[in-house]
Amino acid sequence: MKEDPESKESLTVVDNRTGLTYEIPIKDQAVNASDFRKIKEHERDFGLLVYDPSFVNTASCRSAITFIDGDQGVLEYRGYPIEELAKKSTFLETAYLLIKGELPTSAELDAWTNEIRTHTYMHEKMKMFMEGFQYDAHPMGMLIATVAAMSTIYRDARDVTDPESREANTIRLIAKMPTVAAFTYRHNRGLPYVYPDNDLTYVGNFLSMLWKMAEPQYAPSPVLERAIDVLFILHADHEQNCSTNAMRSVGSSESDPYSSTAAAAAALYGPLHGGANEAVINMLNGIGDKKNIPDFVRRVKEGEGLLWGFGHRVYKNYDPRAEIIKQTADEVFELTGPNPLLEIALELERIALEDDYFIERKLYPNVDFYSGIIYQALGFPVDMFPALFAIPRTAGWLAQWREMLEDKERKIARPRQLFVGESRRPYVPMDQR
Ligand code: ACO
Repeated sequence: MKEDPESKESLTVVDNRTGLTYEIPIKDQAVNASDFRKIKEHERDFGLLVYDPSFVNTASCRSAITFIDGDQGVLEYRGYPIEELAKKSTFLETAYLLIKGELPTSAELDAWTNEIRTHTYMHEKMKMFMEGFQYDAHPMGMLIATVAAMSTIYRDARDVTDPESREANTIRLIAKMPTVAAFTYRHNRGLPYVYPDNDLTYVGNFLSMLWKMAEPQYAPSPVLERAIDVLFILHADHEQNCSTNAMRSVGSSESDPYSSTAAAAAALYGPLHGGANEAVINMLNGIGDKKNIPDFVRRVKEGEGLLWGFGHRVYKNYDPRAEIIKQTADEVFELTGPNPLLEIALELERIALEDDYFIERKLYPNVDFYSGIIYQALGFPVDMFPALFAIPRTAGWLAQWREMLEDKERKIARPRQLFVGESRRPYVPMDQR
């Protein structure tokens, strides 16, 4: 393509139906879909719509939180590369960064940590609510319902236009999410719920609520504590993914943050999103042995199923989070002993990355390919995996929700449709059908 020295930041569009020419401005490498409305065949027409099922090429907002370059495999929170945050930051510091936009000073981090640490307890009514679930209820079903039910306790959360309410409920949600997740785990095991220990770190307290038995104070392993903290940093935000889109979409009607977070968690529950690492474990168990990998890959290529943990809507290169997780896995396995599934996963990755089917479609391992293997080595049952994802992602959802509420361009989310049904017809009485 040749560059025209007189080029303008616009598109010239000719409507071949009418012969009319339109100039559509380009801003930030995008055109505004509403500008196409002026393109009409007849005066009474609605104007051209932009058709984009599943928002494959539609920017739904302006955001300053997370940057992804899917072709280069780049992920940054507020401009900081994920690799540096995973090495140098903590989850709570990263949550602050996502929500407030800057890294905290030492005093700001102390105050933030203290606020979160002192809001970890759940209302006793919420605990009783959770006790009502079936003994083997799925953790995500419990988590979604409990988070939604929390809106009945914190009634002030409905005032989403009040910055103080937004701040208070942001802190409550980040603080209580590990408590809810840990209670689902204890519930499934028929163990008494363990109340938060606010002397421990965010992750240390989570591990205590999961695994404390009769000891006076639970002593988390620093290696596991750090490994989970890193996993939490990696999962904290990922721009406009399915669950974040749900958070923004539900939140755009000014629902309270608990209801919006429950909706986001419901979106995360699906196997194509946060449930993928559960599917990866089931897939690796199904393969069972390295010698079965070629046959499995052949069946995937013939359309018999997916290679779970591979492919991404945005990354068309190695997911940078998968690279970091692989390193974390080594540290965890040194402590827990190896997970036999890792060997199958590594071989599967090797074979897939050499196969034309996956190369042509730019399918690389995503964050979920290895995260499940680590969670399993740590002793988490597979149905806990999406709940482990929901804890850190709550920080990202809330950062995006707050940004959305402060956005001057915000309107209630309301896509259009291309109607393809029957045109107007008279009602047919029952005896004539
Ligand atoms: N295994 C086999 N084939 C795949 C896979 C896969 N994991 N992913 C995509 N493909 C194929 C599709 O069949 C399609 O092939 P075709 O062109 O011959 O029809 C092509 O690659 C393009 O795939 P799409 O489904 O169009 O890609 P899309 O961007 O819509 O989907 C998604 C992305 C949903 C993540 C998909 O890759 C997938 O289902 N992966 C497995 C599930 C998974 O790991 N999800 C976790 C995502 S990360 C996260 O949420 C944290």
